[in-house]
Amino acid sequence: MPKSPPQTAAPLIPSHPTLATLREAASECKACDLWKRATQTVFGEGSRHAKVMFVGEQPGDQEDLQGHPFVGPAGRVLDKALEAAGIDRNDVYVTNAVKHFKWEPRGKRRIHKKPRQPEITACRPWLDAEIAITKPEVVVCLGSTAAQSLLGPKFRVTKRRGEVIPFTQCPYVVATVHPSSILRVPDENARHRAMADFIEDMRKIARLLQEKGLLAA
Ligand code: URA
Repeated sequence: MPKSPPQTAAPLIPSHPTLATLREAASECKACDLWKRATQTVFGEGSRHAKVMFVGEQPGDQEDLQGHPFVGPAGRVLDKALEAAGIDRNDVYVTNAVKHFKWEPRGKRRIHKKPRQPEITACRPWLDAEIAITKPEVVVCLGSTAAQSLLGPKFRVTKRRGEVIPFTQCPYVVATVHPSSILRVPDENARHRAMADFIEDMRKIARLLQEKGLLAA
């Protein structure tokens, strides 16, 4: 039997979308099964004219409840690093590769579960449309799920972290670690070093934008 094509959100993308019509359409997305256990779709947010787009993995527990990306602990790490690098969060666009929270129960807690490739593929048309509308200079992949969604399943953040990679849908992609990986470092000194490295990645992105005249030095 011929293999049926993967189910994706592509048929749900409005013609001539705006961020507002995209968000509205995404709120009804059932392209994969993750909507069943999530509170709501957490769509990207930020400036329509953002020169930099940050792409995380998927909403976490807080994001799922509040309906906004990167508003929980990982978001606070991101905010701190952006501030240290002189990048205003109001000037960026923040989204996720997968727009529903995937979790499993552990006691009373909802534990994050990594999305599978078919879920990432199903969600990709939303991300493509967000990139097409905002036209950022650089997309920053936060962690392997975002990086593999855009750069392919063989991409390794450990090998290519911080590299400025020319991209088909916008001038550049840069991949770095996910901010929640910093929170998980058990040793305090190592955690501080991981944060310093993450801030250095953000500074590199700021310098790239400054070189292009897209961010005040
Ligand atoms: N982790 C992510 O990848 N995205 C969020 O929005 C929050 C946590």
